[in-house]
Amino acid sequence: MNKAIDKILREQESLNKDGLYSTIDRETGFIISTLIKKRNPKNVLEVGTSIGYSGIWIASALKKGAKLTTIDGWKERAAIAKKNFKKSKLPIELIEGRALEIIPKLKTKFDAVFLDATKAEYLKYLRAAKLNKNALVIADNTISHAHKMKDFLDYAEKQCAFTIKTKSGLTFFVL
Ligand SMILES: C[S@@+](CC[C@H](N)C(=O)[O-])C[C@H]1O[C@@H](n2cnc3c(N)ncnc32)[C@H](O)[C@@H]1O
Repeated sequence: MNKAIDKILREQESLNKDGLYSTIDRETGFIISTLIKKRNPKNVLEVGTSIGYSGIWIASALKKGAKLTTIDGWKERAAIAKKNFKKSKLPIELIEGRALEIIPKLKTKFDAVFLDATKAEYLKYLRAAKLNKNALVIADNTISHAHKMKDFLDYAEKQCAFTIKTKSGLTFFVL
């Protein structure tokens, strides 16, 4: 990772001290970035931007010509994310609003999706998105918030998902 990007990530980590902005931790960022690099997706969808921490991990793992689209409905957080994305010069489009209103309107077919917004809506996000065959699905909080996403976890199990025991639980599978 280049120094400028690492500097932005470190600044965001300081900002998220005490979990103020509910971002993933550095270990989870590293795992997501490794998964993304391995799959080499062209279009990635993130549901739940916050201040853009995971978005920067994802977008910095993309190859030239690829792009991240990320959604958040919280104005103040989106404003911080926007500044971070601009500074990073990474290919990221931030769309502000409610995920379940925005996702069905997106024309892009995604090759990977990262779910990190309302836990009880994960399966709905997945169903609403246009996804390519063999799309990679990554979801955070699958251990810490398992009780809120039984439908999603049942679905993930049918897809032979893997769950990594990070602090909150990170699940991934290929469609
Ligand atoms: C856990 S935080 C995301 C953290 C971010 N992925 C990171 O690690 O840097 C969840 C975010 O999802 C947003 N969110 C939750 N439900 C949403 C919805 N239905 N539509 C849009 N944004 C939503 C919240 O505003 C919040 O900023």
